Amino acid sequence: MVVGVRPIEPSHLPGIMALCAVEGSGSYAEEADLTWRALTSPGVTSLVAVQEDRVIGVAQMLGDGVIQAFLVLLVVHPDARGKGLGRRLVEEAFARAGGKRVDLLAEEGAEAFYTRFAHRRKPGFRLYPDPPR
Ligand SMILES: CC(C)(COP(=O)(O)OP(=O)(O)OC[C@H]1O[C@@H](n2cnc3c(N)ncnc32)[C@H](O)[C@@H]1OP(=O)(O)O)[C@@H](O)C(=O)NCCC(=O)NCCS
Repeated sequence: MVVGVRPIEPSHLPGIMALCAVEGSGSYAEEADLTWRALTSPGVTSLVAVQEDRVIGVAQMLGDGVIQAFLVLLVVHPDARGKGLGRRLVEEAFARAGGKRVDLLAEEGAEAFYTRFAHRRKPGFRLYPDPPR
């Protein structure tokens, strides 16, 4: 299969949201306008994997361009897994974002995927506004 990995375009948005809806990244599947803003804000690198115009993978990386990047979102369609696409999306997003390293919070079940990369483990936290807004 020929799969292109490239920066997102508005036409990819429905496919991205559909992918996120079924893969536990529901915050990206709620409002198209918010999702587009999140994926295209300054300092954000967002890539899709596309096969015959169908979105089968997405990655979003935040970064300062010189030192630190943070992988926020990574999803590959279940039918396309195990073919190197997840790795390709991470490597391409890291190369485009720049920086010396990538931090991330791994979802349950994905930890073994990340151990395939040169890495060091650190405890992770997700903070929320208090009081909630
Ligand atoms: C995690 C995910 C992105 C991996 O995508 P993928 O395209 O299947 O990954 P790749 O084919 O590039 O795999 C690269 C390597 O990791 C291994 N790997 C992939 N997923 C794995 C998993 N869940 N557990 C163990 N190893 C895994 C592959 O076997 C491959 O190993 P190799 O280099 O020795 O051949 C995909 O399973 C996914 O979208 N999962 C649901 C969403 C999710 O959990 N995303 C991560 C959020 S933190």
